[in-house]
Amino acid sequence: MFDNTTYSYPAHYKAIEAASKLIGFSMPSDVQTGALLQTLAASKPKASVLEIGTGTGLATAWLLAGMDTSSHLISIDSEASYQVIAQEYLGHDNRLQLVCGDADEWLVKSNHLAFDLIFADAWPGKYAHLDETLSLLKPGGIYVIDDMLPQPNWPTGHDEKATSLISQLEARTDVQLVKMAWSTGIMLIVKK
Ligand SMILES: C[S@@+](CC[C@H](N)C(=O)[O-])C[C@H]1O[C@@H](n2cnc3c(N)ncnc32)[C@H](O)[C@@H]1O
Repeated sequence: MFDNTTYSYPAHYKAIEAASKLIGFSMPSDVQTGALLQTLAASKPKASVLEIGTGTGLATAWLLAGMDTSSHLISIDSEASYQVIAQEYLGHDNRLQLVCGDADEWLVKSNHLAFDLIFADAWPGKYAHLDETLSLLKPGGIYVIDDMLPQPNWPTGHDEKATSLISQLEARTDVQLVKMAWSTGIMLIVKK
């Protein structure tokens, strides 16, 4: 059936979801975003993948499920109490490197790295250090952001920030992009 409700969930996804609920993690990426990330990861053999904002590892699990055995994922989060859940359920996967630290600092010092796919799901890499993050994309590399359609949990004034981010991205001449009314509102940006 052509519907949006049938997904092949990654191993450990349901366990991570349950653990996330137990600690009251309130910022999970949704299943549609995860399924898209899985598919994009599968389009990039031997990929270098970056996730900014591990949270508890929900999207991390989808990315790993799409990646081939030669791919590698760096996922960064500043909050150890979230990332420990990703470590518990996904840490055995030797394709995954979990970094616990401030992504603003990490992005500034990581300009020697290059990625095929970046999921930017934290303030840094999206609303801060956008240029630095996009400069880490290889040609043909894909930068993904979600939460671009108005969300009930947006703080006052966030709609203006989202609108400004969309304008910044649309003004760039070094990328091709598409805005998708999928999940929480996705933008796919491909480096030319
Ligand atoms: C929207 S959540 C990520 C959700 C996650 N991708 C998922 O699949 O559920 C945003 C995450 O960014 C992290 N974060 C916020 N500021 C950060 C910073 N300066 N450096 C690194 N991580 C940060 C938060 O701790 C939080 O886990």
